[in-house]
This record gives sequence, structure tokens and C-alpha cells, in this order.
Amino acid sequence: MPEPRFTIDVIAGDGIGQEVVPAARRCVDAAVAAAAGISLTWRERDWGSDHYRRTGRMMPVDALETMASADAIMLGAVGEPGIPDDVTLWGLLIPIRRTFDQYVNLRPVRLLPGTTSPLRGIDELDLVIVRENVEGEYSSIGGRFDRPGGDTVAVQESLFSRSGTARVARYAARLAASRRGTLVSATKSNGIIHTMPFWDEVVAETVAETAPDVRLRSVLIDALAAELVLHPHASDVIVASNLFGDILSDLAAALAGSIGVAPSASLNPERTHPSLFEPVHGSAPDIAGRGVANPVAQIWSASLMLSHLGLDAPAAALYDAMVATMSAGTLTGDLGGDATTESFTDAVVAEIER
Ligand code: NAI
Ligand code: MG
Repeated sequence: MPEPRFTIDVIAGDGIGQEVVPAARRCVDAAVAAAAGISLTWRERDWGSDHYRRTGRMMPVDALETMASADAIMLGAVGEPGIPDDVTLWGLLIPIRRTFDQYVNLRPVRLLPGTTSPLRGIDELDLVIVRENVEGEYSSIGGRFDRPGGDTVAVQESLFSRSGTARVARYAARLAASRRGTLVSATKSNGIIHTMPFWDEVVAETVAETAPDVRLRSVLIDALAAELVLHPHASDVIVASNLFGDILSDLAAALAGSIGVAPSASLNPERTHPSLFEPVHGSAPDIAGRGVANPVAQIWSASLMLSHLGLDAPAAALYDAMVATMSAGTLTGDLGGDATTESFTDAVVAEIER
């Protein structure tokens, strides 16, 4: 049998991306080597804010074309003081997500060893947020209009398609079926009277078709925000529109103790295009260049990448080694420890090779 081969495009990007991405790469290489019989090649892309300063673009004109052949994309973060955040975001991340139809944004939330939830009395947390990633509230339809009399109005339209809603609901329903068999759908159909009742209807239909045994609960987004804080165990898998999912996933990540440990995957579940794996955090300019960034979010994202590629054994080895390292008390400064990015990574690699 020929050796399975994978090509990963890797964009370390800005700030601590330059520190946590090499760390995660070392861990992936160790896990893949330990599994034997897999060939994994990194294609390094020096895109981001430096590239923008040199060329006026975050990435080259043909970037998306050249990435299309990749099996996956690993991203650190983009964003630097002095360059507007919408330039960095719309110049790199959004085109990647949309061109490659990465319509599922997956955010697992767990309380890892060594992390403390800001919630009193919570010592265990395990849920997944499935956020719609390419349509909904984040559309470019709208504009500013002058009214007679001198007033100005800004209009921003949301766009929900049946197919776009159904496919994210299908993904969430299957995931729910593989876990506790419950799915929460975030809604606001009492106040947003066109798109949200449509969302509710399509989600309910899709779940009934895809996974009839999954128990679906529709919860108003404001009540759900409160519920997540008061009863974080009431949800297991949550499916939400682009905006609601964005807010909920940051809320849920905060419940897990540190932004430095929150991973994410932007998935094209059909695998017709590469999927993207990146930490939830940004480029952290306040600590960049000091070698103290927590690489856990990046390493966990890399583990999600390996499982998406079907490399379940190295994915689990990577995740388990990371958790074992944290359990042994090796923690970076954000979690109250004194490990550096490098010493933490050394410990994970040693654990994988044990
Ligand atoms: P941030 O996530 O970069 O930092 C927030 C706080 O968390 C900072 O105090 C930082 O030091 C800390 N932090 C973040 N990651 C950490 C880690 N791995 N270990 C230890 N501490 C960590 O968010 P901020 O400051 O709002 O944004 C900084 C830049 O990053 C901006 O330009 C923003 O646009 C960009 N950004 C990019 C994202 C992406 O590329 N996907 C996502 C979020 C922000
Ligand atoms: Mg966000």
C-alpha cells in the first residue's frame, strides 16, 4: 500500500503566531513520526502583515489558487498594531473561509488540567460550538444612505439560505448523535422575525431528517448566554448562526479559563476544499517576541487537523501528550506556570516520544 501523503499549507502570520505555529509543527512532526508510514509535507507561506507592508496585500493574488491543492491549512494569527484589523481579516482569513466554503466553524470547549474556570465550583466542562461560518449576519449587503433632512442611515442585511442553514444543522446533528444525543440551537425568533423563524424551521427539519434520535432544544440567544454561565452542563453541542456563534464561542472559551487554550477549525466537511485550523486567540502583540505564549490552542487545533485528515492515532497521541504535560504541572505564564513556549513544547514532544 502506498504511504498516505498530506500537504499542509502553514501560515504562521503575525505576533505570537510566529512562536506557537513552529511549536505545533514540532508536535505534529513528532506524532506523525511516531505513527510511522505517513508522509506529511509543510508548505510555508510568509503571508501576513509584513507581506502587506512589502506588497500592499496580506497574501499574493494567486494565494487561494496555490492553496487549493493543500489537504489542510494551519494558521497562527494575523493582526498587528498600525494596520487596521479589517484589512488583516478581510485580506486573508475571510477570503480563505469563503473561497474554500469552510461553512462549519467548530469550537470545542474543555476545562483542561491546570486551567481554572472563572465559574465557582466548576471542575469539568466539555461542549462544542458549531458556528455557521460563511453567511448569516456577516454579509456585505447594505450601505449608508442619506435621508432628506440631513440624517444618515446604515443598513446591514443578513442572508440565510435554506441550503446554508441545512448543511450546518446536518453537521451539528451528526456530531450531537456521536456525543450525548442533544443539540441546542441558538435563536432569536421573537425579535428577529424573518431570518430566525426560518433558521428554527430549517434546523428542526434537518435534525429530524438527519438524526431523528437527537433531542433538539431551541433557546433564545440571550437566555442561552445566561444559561451557559449558570448551567454550563445543560448544553453539549450548540449550533448557531455566524454572529451568535461568534459571541457564544468567546463566552464559552472564557468559561474554560484562558484564551491561550481555545482551538478552532473552519471545516469544509465535504472535503472538496482544504479546511483551516487555527487558535481562537489573535497575535497577542503585548507578549509577542518574548517566547512566553501558550502553544496549547495551536497544538489542540493541530490535533483537530490530524483527525480531520483521518489520522486518528496521531491526533489522539498529540492531544493526550498535551493534556499529560499540563497534568504534570508544566504550564505557561497565562495559566500561572513558568514554562516558556519552548519548554512546554519540549515536554509535549518528549511525552509523544515516550
Ligand atoms: P489576542 O487574542 O491576540 O490577545 C488577547 C489577550 O490574551 C492578550 O492579553 C494576550 O496576551 C492574551 N493571549 C492571547 N493568546 C495567548 C496565548 N497563546 N498565550 C498567552 N496569552 C495569550 O486578542 P487582541 O489583543 O484583541 O488582538 C490582537 C491582534 O490579533 C489584533 O490585531 C486582532 O485583530 C488580531 N486577531 C486575529 C485573529 C485571527 O487571526 N484569527 C483572532 C483574534 C484577533
Ligand atoms: Mg470572535
